[in-house]
Amino acid sequence: MSNLVSLEQRGALAILRIDNPPVNALSPAVVQGIKAAVDRFEANPSMRALVVCAAGRTFVAGGDISEFSKPDFTTEPFNTTLNRIENLGRPVVAVLHGTVLGGGLELAMACHYRIAAPSTRLGLPEVLLGILPGSHGTQRLPRLVGVKQALNMMLSGRPIGADRALQAGLVDALAEGDPDAAAVQFMEGLVAAGKGPRRTGERTVSMEDVEPDFFETMLDEVKTKKGAYPAPQRIVHCVEAAATLPLLQGQGVEARLFEECRVSPQSEAMRKLFFAEREATRIPGVAENVAPRPIRKVGVIGAGTMGGGIAMNFANADIPVVIIETSQEALDRGLGIVRKNYENTAAKGKLAPGEPARRMGLLTGSLDFQDLADCDLVIEAVFENLDIKKQVSQRLGAVCKPGAIIASNTSTLDVDVLATASGRAADFLGMHFFSPANVMRLLEIVRGAQTAPDVLATIVRLAKTIGKVPVVSGVCYGFIGNRMLESYLRESEFLMMEGASPAQIDRAIQSLGLPMGPCRMLDLAGLDVAAKVVIERGKAGALPADPSYRAVVQKMMELGRFGQKTGFGYYRYDGRTPVPDPEVETICIALAEKYGIARRTGITDQEIIERCLYPLVNEGARILEEGIAYRPGDIDLVWVNGYGFPDYRGGPMHLADTIGIAKIAGRLDHYAQLRGDQHGYWSISLLLAFMAERGLHFRDWPIKPEN
Ligand code: 3HC
Ligand code: NAI
Repeated sequence: MSNLVSLEQRGALAILRIDNPPVNALSPAVVQGIKAAVDRFEANPSMRALVVCAAGRTFVAGGDISEFSKPDFTTEPFNTTLNRIENLGRPVVAVLHGTVLGGGLELAMACHYRIAAPSTRLGLPEVLLGILPGSHGTQRLPRLVGVKQALNMMLSGRPIGADRALQAGLVDALAEGDPDAAAVQFMEGLVAAGKGPRRTGERTVSMEDVEPDFFETMLDEVKTKKGAYPAPQRIVHCVEAAATLPLLQGQGVEARLFEECRVSPQSEAMRKLFFAEREATRIPGVAENVAPRPIRKVGVIGAGTMGGGIAMNFANADIPVVIIETSQEALDRGLGIVRKNYENTAAKGKLAPGEPARRMGLLTGSLDFQDLADCDLVIEAVFENLDIKKQVSQRLGAVCKPGAIIASNTSTLDVDVLATASGRAADFLGMHFFSPANVMRLLEIVRGAQTAPDVLATIVRLAKTIGKVPVVSGVCYGFIGNRMLESYLRESEFLMMEGASPAQIDRAIQSLGLPMGPCRMLDLAGLDVAAKVVIERGKAGALPADPSYRAVVQKMMELGRFGQKTGFGYYRYDGRTPVPDPEVETICIALAEKYGIARRTGITDQEIIERCLYPLVNEGARILEEGIAYRPGDIDLVWVNGYGFPDYRGGPMHLADTIGIAKIAGRLDHYAQLRGDQHGYWSISLLLAFMAERGLHFRDWPIKPEN
């Protein structure tokens, strides 16, 4: 028998234990081991009942995702074993703990009974990987918990707690204490009650609360909301099959639709992101076993847009926060916004009624930097001004306790300069949250020249604690995301001056699945804020010697067209609805004339996509070449979690792989010919050129171009 799965007899009980650390994923060897254990159990009548459990921190967390891309992947051996387990003539109980997910829950549902430790989480998260539960989950879950609850779990991918699972009928009992003892006790109870096997597959799906047009309505809903994803519509079809067909036929429908999802490019992209997210926590030069520093209390400087949101992240994770402001008025305003935020969430039923007050109780306002003396981490989120930030960094260096970590939320300034100002460069790093900071999942962690390895390890771990996706970036203007964004915004402005309208540009970009194109995005963020960044960079001598560079946004600011907040920007606003404004075209015509840019008609959506996206990929390649980002997957995580790049396209670098690197290089060359390249806008990075020449993809990373 495989050493990943054991079968041990204890009296009349047989205990099947899966032991495949870290999460007991169902690799082919584990599946084979389960099959062999079932064979032995079947052949030995002295084993009167079977207990299925797993060793380590969790029950089975699902199928082995790393297997899904293999051409010969099949769920068949596992699925056959599941039906065999269900059909056993002696009772089978699953003993659950940790995270019972995907194939793990499907295994549990094939057992006749389920008992769970109170802290267990149970779910079918396949949809988040672009697939559907392919080991009978779509057929057994509705039989256990009903159509609506089953669809809710499968379409959201969100796990439920053991309490809710008990109420819903997904588990039969909660088991405190030693799981083996609980299993024995549960089995004794069964025997005493004269109960034998209880097969989920023999149940019918209750249609009591299901309206006649329910499936049709659900299909319409998921088509509208999730039409770009392969799984949601197919999940609805599978559940309808569960409700209307016998088990085996329903399983057939599921198998066919699972396979369609598995081989889809969307699922491949989403699976790649799953592994990229885990890979991103491995940082070159930081040993995996380095001990992180404890973070028990956090300080935040500035209770503005970002400071308030940043503080909420920690309060949400039960970590107390001290917030420092310059005046009582600013402090009251900032904390007032946080309170309102919590209250609104509670009013929507997404937070328990007592939670706003409890979380506010974790936030302490102060006007005195001395109150930071016992904080383990202090994050400054004051105005984006180098002198002010240097002063604040210096004060933090003076008041923070030895070993405290000091972080800046700057989006554009040099983290190394601030680190030096603090006098504690080893304890210093950037923590670039995205707005709204309590919502956006991305956290760019900016590694200074002297940031200590344990400081990085601490912040990566803390990011996970507060539910963020951490990506480490080196120091450069804009770090990974905003640096790449620059070329995208540059081209969108040139396109406007050449004759494309903001609406056409946004439509073309949104056709890729981004929620907003560049014009709507900047109107929302504020064109004044965006223009000031360009102006500051100009003052610092960091812009190309091209007077037409980002001329549109600067003109917009000059004209007071700040975007949504003033009712005018690249669009005119009717409430929050953008309406095309002919005035913008007039402005662009005047700018084109001023800078000698030829106006054209017939700019295609394809040109817009190529001109906005391909330079962005080229800049991504440069970022990799310079070691600012460690892996293409890190860049993809930044764009998916910080800029709304659709996860089903896997991020810009993954998308570039699917388009073809040589094709992208060819088009960059084409635009260099067409538009001239005196400012280097179209110069192909060394890495991209190397890859194009050799037919390489970003997925072949690491790639070392020859000099
Ligand atoms: N397959 C393969 N590897 C997996 C895995 C899986 N299902 N789940 C986790 N891992 C790996 C991770 O890649 C990571 O590896 P690494 O250490 O080499 O980077 C390691 O296990 C630990 O994972 P995490 O860092 O994510 O550990 P956490 O403790 O933070 O989280 C978890 C644990 C909640 C189980 C989380 O890993 C998770 O959500 N896993 C995915 C669960 C899932 O999606 N299951 C469904 C799979 S699809 C399926 O079952 C298909 C079936 O219907 C046919
Ligand atoms: P903001 O203007 O809303 O808030 C700044 C706050 O800092 C103000 O309340 C101000 O009173 C306070 N402040 C200024 N000097 C202070 C000092 N010496 N001590 C204590 N408090 C002080 O600014 P916002 O938007 O919150 O930005 C803050 C930082 O976050 C900036 O570095 C910005 O670049 C960065 N950032 C902003 C993003 C955004 O979308 N707004 C996104 C990512 C980063």
